[in-house]
Amino acid sequence: MKTVFSGMRPTGKLHLGHLVGALDNWVKLQNVNRCIYCVADWHALMGEYEHSQNMRAYGLDMVVDWIACGIDPDRSIIFVQSDVPEHLELQMVFSCITPLGWLERNPTYKEQLREITTRDLQTYAFLGYPVLQAADILLYKAEAVPIGEDQLPHLELTRELSRRFNFIYKKDVFEDCEAILTPTPRLLGLDGRKMSKSYGNTINLSDSPDEILVKVKNMLTDPKRMRLKDVGHPDECNVFAYYKTFFPGRGHEVRTWCEGATQGCTDCKKTLADGIIEHLRPIREKRATILADRGYVEAVLKKGADQARAIAASTMKEVRQVIFG
Ligand code: TRP
Ligand code: SF4
Repeated sequence: MKTVFSGMRPTGKLHLGHLVGALDNWVKLQNVNRCIYCVADWHALMGEYEHSQNMRAYGLDMVVDWIACGIDPDRSIIFVQSDVPEHLELQMVFSCITPLGWLERNPTYKEQLREITTRDLQTYAFLGYPVLQAADILLYKAEAVPIGEDQLPHLELTRELSRRFNFIYKKDVFEDCEAILTPTPRLLGLDGRKMSKSYGNTINLSDSPDEILVKVKNMLTDPKRMRLKDVGHPDECNVFAYYKTFFPGRGHEVRTWCEGATQGCTDCKKTLADGIIEHLRPIREKRATILADRGYVEAVLKKGADQARAIAASTMKEVRQVIFG
């Protein structure tokens, strides 16, 4: 049994990208590992400190989605980062031993500074974002961390910090951790751009069947296929990419009707919408059940925080001992 740790920032509703890019994998990992899943609200605050009022609600709703997708609070630890103060304590320890250059060179950091202009990221905390992430992971001595590719530099820094800590304090407190990359290729948003809530191009896990239908109907298709008689190019069509991700078994059929011009894009999208609505049905139903049970999610998070704190406290005891004697 390995210890698996991962986290998500509570910044809004979860969408299909989260499902295929992370949650499906998180659910599977529970079968053979001890999994710890964290609502990373301190990380969210680094970018959203002016909108902190929504964070608690986003976190609760995110956990509803997690459980609805199959994260099992009886097998995995689900908790909110700010409920376990040891994260910040270990972050401080790591801050002391992190050379500035490691942070300034981080490609993910540089890219975000360049690309995200709507939020203020020119802060001391944001530069240290991966230091807190390393603390998250190492506090639980996690061996495996499911993440997206953009997070690889953060995991590299985590390994460097664990080695540096052990080296400086001459004790093997921490071990290396490995990344588990999600197998599915990245799903684009409905408009073909990167899927992101700020572009409004997502299908959310909590969307109603009607909302899903409207969104899929409005998807862009192969621009070369103007009318039914035109031959389509499925590999250039985002609708086809959705089929491949969610219904790989139907790829051949869709390719045939598209390239043979035997079925129009409207029907093709209607069939896709029905499929996605069906695919999300169990999640939708479970969401409703969870939401009907007032206090359930709070109770899950209370238990999760207690379990997480027990582990975190023991690591911090060891860390303080090693540092201060
Ligand atoms: N930085 C991660 C993201 O934005 C979220 C995160 C916070 C995380 N702490 C973590 C991921 C620890 C893995 C492990 O996606
Ligand atoms: Fe895309 Fe389907 Fe239209 Fe082909 S038939 S272009 S796959 S929407």
